[in-house]
Amino acid sequence: MKAVVAERYGGPEVLAIVDRPDPEVGPRDVLIAVKAASLNPLDFKIREGKVKLVLKLKPPIALGCDVAGVVERVGAEVTKFRPGDEVFARLEKDRMGGLAERVAATEQVVARKPARASFEEAAAIPLAGLTALQALREAAGLTPGQRVLIHAGAGGVGSLAIQIAKVLGLHVTTTTSTKNIDLVKQLGADAIVDYTKHEPLPDGLDAVFDTLGAASELASLGAVKRGGIVVGVGGLPDGAFAKARLPGFARPVIWLATGKRRRAANRAGARFAYLFMRPDGEQLAELASWIDDGRLKPLVHRSYPLAESRQAFAELERGRARGKIIVTI
Ligand SMILES: NC(=O)c1ccc[n+]([C@@H]2O[C@H](COP(=O)([O-])OP(=O)(O)OC[C@H]3O[C@@H](n4cnc5c(N)ncnc54)[C@H](OP(=O)(O)O)[C@@H]3O)[C@@H](O)[C@H]2O)c1
Repeated sequence: MKAVVAERYGGPEVLAIVDRPDPEVGPRDVLIAVKAASLNPLDFKIREGKVKLVLKLKPPIALGCDVAGVVERVGAEVTKFRPGDEVFARLEKDRMGGLAERVAATEQVVARKPARASFEEAAAIPLAGLTALQALREAAGLTPGQRVLIHAGAGGVGSLAIQIAKVLGLHVTTTTSTKNIDLVKQLGADAIVDYTKHEPLPDGLDAVFDTLGAASELASLGAVKRGGIVVGVGGLPDGAFAKARLPGFARPVIWLATGKRRRAANRAGARFAYLFMRPDGEQLAELASWIDDGRLKPLVHRSYPLAESRQAFAELERGRARGKIIVTI
């Protein structure tokens, strides 16, 4: 089967479409004929070798975390799916390779594709949608009526986070550039900060969901009330994540590199929590139900055929996508 791999660590030039054997299907696995996959910044960070410490993958690396497709075969112990089912999934960290004709995943990370979504729209959801849900509901523990700032509301994660926050009953402020103001309003944002005009962030918030990294995390800690929380996914991990997931030598390095952030959190009387999302078929089914009842609409920036995967990566890496970039297979 055809698959996109990073032949070594590097830029888009290391991407190649190669022939690979079909994935092995274990007793609890579902074999999916992929119709569409979405790209995430994680894919190019893996390709560049920037997440080696967390994801121990060696080139050639099969890329792609998010898929939507049709079940072709199931393992003997699979109970939830049958051949012919239309499904979507965020693949497990050691079984990526969604930019391919076929992929295998344990049934725990798979859910039925929402009937209202195309394969392209469904592929836009898993990693970004689960990240947003886990950040807002689990890591920040937000409840209806609370006020959250979601950074980069027009992006892959942000465009879903705004809508998910509205489903959760939250008041949403989002940051965006002038050209995307109408878009984030349509997605449901209650208040907008145009970062290109250097507008100030609000203050006294219950939480900030930060996808932008170090400098933004510091500013975000100034926007939450005492007892509030900033959940970050785009910058450096926190001590808890480093202890659980990083090798011993990396922990003091992370500790030193995040000192400013800890001090800012102390000054604000607030918490910072780093989130590394996890695949979860049940939560994906919940997101699918919100798509089917019209409360969540995936936003597809542009679709590319598999043969144009390099162009798809280049578009993602420009960092200006409105929603998600899709590769069709
Ligand atoms: N830890 C985890 O589990 C996890 C999970 C998911 C994502 N992430 C990380 O989260 C980050 C975002 O991912 P993504 O998929 O949302 O990326 P993305 O779709 O590529 O983000 C692009 C968007 O960012 C907006 N943007 C850029 N600079 C901005 C700024 N200063 N203020 C406000 N908006 C800005 C752009 O809008 P404009 O054109 O309007 O500027 C564009 O719409 C990445 O670093 C990714 O690796 C981490």
